[in-house]
Formats: sequence, C-alpha cells, structure tokens
Amino acid sequence: APDLKGRSFLKELDFSAAEFRGLVELAADLKAAKKAGVEQRLLRGRNIALIFEKTSTRTRCAFEVAAADQGAHTVYLDPAGSQMGHKESVRDTARVLGRMFDGIEYRGDSQEAVEELAAHSGVPVFNGLTDDWHPTQMLADVLTMTEHSTRPLHRISFAYLGDARFNMGNSYLVTGALLGMDVRIVAPRSYWPAEHVVAEARRLAADSGARITLTEEVDAGVAQADFVVTDVWVSMGEPKEIWDERIAALAPYAVTMDVLRATGNPDVKFMHCLPAFHDLGTKVAREIHDRHGLDSLEVTDEVFESEHSVVFDEAENRLHTIKAVLVATLGRPGPGDA
Ligand code: CP
Ligand code: NVA
Repeated sequence: APDLKGRSFLKELDFSAAEFRGLVELAADLKAAKKAGVEQRLLRGRNIALIFEKTSTRTRCAFEVAAADQGAHTVYLDPAGSQMGHKESVRDTARVLGRMFDGIEYRGDSQEAVEELAAHSGVPVFNGLTDDWHPTQMLADVLTMTEHSTRPLHRISFAYLGDARFNMGNSYLVTGALLGMDVRIVAPRSYWPAEHVVAEARRLAADSGARITLTEEVDAGVAQADFVVTDVWVSMGEPKEIWDERIAALAPYAVTMDVLRATGNPDVKFMHCLPAFHDLGTKVAREIHDRHGLDSLEVTDEVFESEHSVVFDEAENRLHTIKAVLVATLGRPGPGDA
C-alpha cells in the first residue's frame, strides 16, 4: 500500500501516477477484505471532520461508512451548520479543526477554500468536490474501469460527453493523462476544459504516453471506446436559468443507444458519477419535461438501465476508494507493515 501518511488530497495531481494506482489497488484490497469479513480497523481513535457546503449522498455516506468500518469517528458539518465563511474565515476554521481532528473533508465551490484548509489546519485535507476537481470520484472511476476491463490502464480508452469545463471534465482529462490512458473529451468547443487544464494534461501525456483528443464529433470521439462517461449538464451552484442554454448546446451529446453503437464496441460500458438525469424521478426533471418535452438529459433511461451501465458499481466504489484515502493518509500501521 502507498505510504501517504499526513498527505492531503486536494486534486488528482497531488499524487504521482504510482501513488494514484497504489490507492486504487489498496481500495481493491479493502473491498475484498470487507466482503470476506476480514477487514482490519486501522483508523481506531481517529476523528474526521466532514464539511459539506453543498449537498451530497454518495460522498458523505462513503466517508461516514468508510470511517465507521475502520473504527474512526466523524463529525458532519452541513451547509448551514458551521461558522466557516460566514462568521469565521476559512483560515481560522482550519486552525480550530486542526486542533480537534486528525483529518478534514471539504466539499464546496471554491478550490481556494480547500487549499486554505490544508495550508492552515496542519492535518490531511480531502477534496470532496469543488467546482474545479472531484478527485475522490476519479479513484472510484478508475477502480470501476479496472474491474470492468481485462486490460491495464494504459490500454483503456474512455470518452467523456457533455459539459467538460467543470469538475468532472477537468478531473477526467488530467486523471486519464496522468495514468497514460486514451482520453477523449467530446463536447462543443466552448464546453472544453480551460486552456491551462488542457496544457497540463498534454504535459502529463508526454510523460505517461496518454493519448488526448478533444473533439466536437460524437462518432469519431467515441469510436472503439471502452467506456462512455458523462455528467449532469447543470452542476450544483449553477443558476436554474441556465438549463435552456445547456439543453440547446449539449443535446447532441446525450448518451443514447446510438452513441453506444457508434463506439463499435459491443462490450462498451457506461459510467456516470451520479446523480443522473435519466428519468422523471425528480421535481426539476418534471419541470424540464413540461418545458422541453424531454424525458432525460445527459443519458437516456434505456442506456442507464442497460447491461452496459456500471453506475452502481461505480457508486459502491466511492466507499472503498475513500476508505483507501483515509487508511493511506491517516491509518495506523497494519499487520502487513514493517
Ligand atoms: N458522485 C457524487 O459525488 O455524488 P454526491 O453528490 O451524492 O456525493
Ligand atoms: N458536476 C456535478 C458533479 C456532482 C457529483 C456537480 O458539481 O454538481
């Protein structure tokens, strides 16, 4: 297992490719140990703060269950439940929490805030999603890809369709580049990741051998892909008024059965970090249905419910991979350690 004691995980590039792969391997080991009922409790007595300035199902539950499985205690601070950013600066909050906790998870819009927590708390800080990056999600996605492929990572290809300027698009691009994968960003040009993110990915690719493609063409972009992935078209914190514009721009990039067929790969898998807009199961989905006559947005229900879809394996893997981060950064020496 990688020795990452005391390290923070604020963005994918905080870890080398070897460290990142080591975390994915540790997660696979922890998953197997849990399923076999032989999990060791390496986080006994640790206290972990979970700051959520945005809502969450998977990330929060993964941190809480991972900590409980390993014998740690968590304190959840909800979007309204702390002084941070309202009555107290991030820097002061960091110095207080650092006196009480062994590690801090933070989800919010600002990457600067999570960096500031890490700079001033003196304990490992974990990015549970910002507008820029979703690094713990990348560990889960890479674990899921390895589970659903017989090939090593550097021979796996994936195509991300949709809004690629935000956390998921940025994270997929740099993660694929770091790990030497075949990464395709398939979106209108104005929805491609920012220039500096693309430049960073190209720099990484020169070392890792990754292939990087940015294209507006769906058929060419998905050709022979092992995985087709997408994300919501409107992210947390974005205004409702933006739906019409997003639907107009991104409708050709919805993941449909035709898109999966266009890969030419009968075994292609579909992934989505979730939550997904594939049916009329939410109030906002019904509003959009009434306005636009659409039953789904970024992925059709047919794809989501098909045998190609591995979205719930991916969701489960949030638990095992977040546990790997906690164990690697905060864990006590295990029986296998020298
Ligand atoms: N994928 C993900 O981060 O889900 P939550 O927003 O439910 O945590
Ligand atoms: N891009 C989405 C990801 C949710 C896990 C958002 O930021 O809302």
